[in-house]
Amino acid sequence: MTSHTVKHPFPDDFVWGAATSSYQIEGAVDADGRGTSIWDTLCRQPGAIEDASSGAIACDHYHRWRQDVATMAELGLQAYRFSIAWPRIQPTGRGEVVAAGLDFYDRLVDELLRVGITPFPTLYHWDLPQPLEDEGGWSHRGTAEAFVDYARRVGERLGDRVRHWVTHNEPWCAAVLGYETGEHAPGIKDGPRAMAARHHLLLSHGWAVRALREVVPEAVLGITLNLVPSFAASPSPADRDAFRSLDGSFNRWFLDPLYGMGYPADVIADRQALGHLPPGPLPFVAEGDLQAIAEPTDYLGLNLYSRAVLRSDAVAEADNAPRTVQVAPADEHTDMGWEVYPKGITQLLVRVHQCYAPAALYITECGAAYDDGPGADGEVHDARRVAFFDGYLRAAQEAIELDVPLKGFLAWSLLDNFEWAYGYTKRFGLVHVDYETQRRTIKQSGRWYRDVIERNGL
Ligand code: FCB
Repeated sequence: MTSHTVKHPFPDDFVWGAATSSYQIEGAVDADGRGTSIWDTLCRQPGAIEDASSGAIACDHYHRWRQDVATMAELGLQAYRFSIAWPRIQPTGRGEVVAAGLDFYDRLVDELLRVGITPFPTLYHWDLPQPLEDEGGWSHRGTAEAFVDYARRVGERLGDRVRHWVTHNEPWCAAVLGYETGEHAPGIKDGPRAMAARHHLLLSHGWAVRALREVVPEAVLGITLNLVPSFAASPSPADRDAFRSLDGSFNRWFLDPLYGMGYPADVIADRQALGHLPPGPLPFVAEGDLQAIAEPTDYLGLNLYSRAVLRSDAVAEADNAPRTVQVAPADEHTDMGWEVYPKGITQLLVRVHQCYAPAALYITECGAAYDDGPGADGEVHDARRVAFFDGYLRAAQEAIELDVPLKGFLAWSLLDNFEWAYGYTKRFGLVHVDYETQRRTIKQSGRWYRDVIERNGL
């Protein structure tokens, strides 16, 4: 089909792909000298994972990668975002690399390029080597230093073929879910350590960008954030403050320093009030850090799923009226309980473009959990996922029409996989995985996505 027959074409150079991450799909946690990651450790803790599972086998992608690349080719993907498991490269997080670990990603990259798919690796998608956690993990500055060495070594090996790199995936999750709420590995509940972790993740990003530029001069470098389109539930001062606080902690805390504005003073004050930061200067920020974090990048990656509507519990209902936003009905939520709200991503993309002006933007993840499996006819009829993508892609297109330099869309996820603390209870794939047999079945949404890619539009 030529573009003039397509109702909603995307720009000619728009990149279509899908994303995964190492711990969620690879399995083979003991293969070829891989070290232990903080997720291996967390999964052993009773009650940490909803179905008491782990990523020990997951989609067995470590052994089935060739078949999985063939499936990507069948879907017509132009890019594939995967992550590199640091414990496969450096089991202790430091020192000599394990040849077999790097060889795995080397072969994967070659096979992707052979079938015409652009590799888009993420250096850190949450599987920290356990020995680094034992020294303090991301709340410890030494982890940021170790990360740069790891990034450089991976760049040296793959940089002759890989141009597009993501340094970190969602530092908010790694820091806050990992060190403040304890829902994610390493499962720690310590406000001050979480604040330090936020900083060291950003710092290691900036340092890694500099290091990668040296070894891969042609590199296209960025970080991926999970920004949340946020709204006050009402115009009341209390709700507006709840909005300010969440938007500050989730969005501005990361965007402001990445774009040279330092950490937002209102969030610092919030965290001082909570006892997560001491009064006075931030104890973990050394001279030059803010400059390092603001190292220029080539794009900003965004993972977009839902929105947040903030209401304050701090004042009585009667004092906090009128409530203008109703909670959306159940059928407008995915299995994660996340509201389907496409308009939010248009608003967020426009805001980021206007306030921070990244050189380019990629949606590095976007997708929905729905548990549809194969029906009597063997097909997976996941019409809700098709509707989800249709809505979000239209919203992305609207942002492009408003001059947002959005360059690509990477669906989450290629495969159903290990959804962190939810184990295997949530399915995000364009491709269904039967975990007993490891059989892959392309869902209706996967075929629909293939058609979208083929005609570059909806
Ligand atoms: C994102 C993660 C990704 C996946 C999706 C559903 O926060 O980056 O690994 O779990 O959510």
